[in-house]
Amino acid sequence: MECKWSLVTKGHGNDKGSENKVVTIGDTKLPILHHTKSQRVQTESEREVPNNIIAPARKVVRRDYIKNFEVYPTVKFCKRVHCGLMEEMSRSTASKSKTEAYLWINSGPFKSFNELDKSNVPIVKAMESMASQRIARISAHLRPPNSQMEERCGLKRADCRAKGGAPGFKVAILGAAGGIGQPLAMLMKMNPLVSVLHLYDVVNAPGVTADISHMDTGAVVRGFLGQPQLESALTGMDLVIIPAGVPRKPGMTRDDLFKINAGIVRTLCEGVAKCCPNAIVNLISNPVNSTVPIAAEVFKKAGTYDPKRLLGVTMLDVVRANTFVAEVLGLDPREVDVPVVGGHAGVTILPLLSKVKPPSSFTPEETEYLTKRIQDGGTEVVQAKAGAGSATLSMAYAAVKFADACLRGLRGDAGVVECAFVASEVTELPFFATKVRLGRRGAEEVYQLGPLNEYERVGLEKAKKELAESIQKGISFIRK
Ligand SMILES: NC(=O)c1ccc[n+]([C@@H]2O[C@H](COP(=O)([O-])OP(=O)(O)OC[C@H]3O[C@@H](n4cnc5c(N)ncnc54)[C@H](O)[C@@H]3O)[C@@H](O)[C@H]2O)c1
Repeated sequence: MECKWSLVTKGHGNDKGSENKVVTIGDTKLPILHHTKSQRVQTESEREVPNNIIAPARKVVRRDYIKNFEVYPTVKFCKRVHCGLMEEMSRSTASKSKTEAYLWINSGPFKSFNELDKSNVPIVKAMESMASQRIARISAHLRPPNSQMEERCGLKRADCRAKGGAPGFKVAILGAAGGIGQPLAMLMKMNPLVSVLHLYDVVNAPGVTADISHMDTGAVVRGFLGQPQLESALTGMDLVIIPAGVPRKPGMTRDDLFKINAGIVRTLCEGVAKCCPNAIVNLISNPVNSTVPIAAEVFKKAGTYDPKRLLGVTMLDVVRANTFVAEVLGLDPREVDVPVVGGHAGVTILPLLSKVKPPSSFTPEETEYLTKRIQDGGTEVVQAKAGAGSATLSMAYAAVKFADACLRGLRGDAGVVECAFVASEVTELPFFATKVRLGRRGAEEVYQLGPLNEYERVGLEKAKKELAESIQKGISFIRK
């Protein structure tokens, strides 16, 4: 396309790379006319160019430039054209850091952008489209969707942003090198709400971190190995996900599992209380029915306990319930929503089939089959893996689904509701899993069970009995 314009760059003497180059915008090639500082030929004419298209920033590291440019008062159209130009300039020239560019009509400096508009519509359109994309990116960066949250929950967007990283939240995974930890870390690295991802473990954290850090997604990944690095791993985190511990193996009693994991959870939660007391904690380590009360006691001792911020992850039970119920109903699991209440072990897992969405009815045989299969889902995987661990991949998926919901809540999204094991007044027990509404301060609302059918009422009584013991066991572990 014939070009009526040239680009004039206002160089600073050493950005030679842009000399005699051409910038392609849309399908038009624009020659670049280069002027070093000493050759500033257009000083006179420059005054005639509206102020608002001359870049205000002299120090042009690209991101700084964008920021300065954004706060500078600009006419919308000029801003669009100018952003489009800068995008192309930085792509096409060797000089990425110091170039300022503005558009010049070959016949002389223009006085108004209206002339530009008329003189070459396709190029303006192409630049506008590039500029719109860029402005959207800049706006998302500078003005996150909910800036009020900064005041309410002490989260500062600026602190969430890492150099080279995306805007978002800081997340730590404790036990990141394990069977759950690794796929969980990978999936969190893919989550656009995460800007910084800290991977902590007592073994192999550097390897997992190096591996995951090569993924070309926004989050910046850092690894931390062993107890001496726990505090660095936790400082400043918004969300801490804990899958650290040992999984259940065939022949292992719940008590064996409890003894090992209770100590691990205590140590890690002491670190949370010290380094990021305002973080939301997603506790995965089993037995969740006891580890959540343990964490609560640790936080109480430290004076940092906020019941809304401590959530036991029961999402895998919901994920399994959705899948198994969808199989029976012949539906896509993504269309099915099964509330699972109570706790996260055996009979404490209580799927409420009377409240399945879309509304469905089940025969007594189907109810019995589904309830048992959901309750024994963990054992199904443990047995199939035959000594090689418990559910890891589906658990990582479920953990990320839940963590993502927590982050959306933190961001201030409305209507984020998931099941979790939390401090509760729904029953006489101090902790219970039900649907909760996730918000800026964690589990902001705990929903009641609503009317239950006879089968569910019987199941609830059994669940409460076992839950009471597990909760007490957790509390006693710390208070003893
Ligand atoms: N909530 C759920 O729905 C659910 C589902 C499945 C498994 N789990 C539980 O998740 C936990 C992890 O399971 P897994 O299969 O990943 O086990 P795993 O043994 O593969 O991984 C556990 C990781 O934790 C690390 N670890 C041990 N002690 C630690 C400490 N003090 N600090 C930091 N990291 C430590 C280990 O080095 C290991 O990398 C188990 O307790 C398991 O029972 C929970």
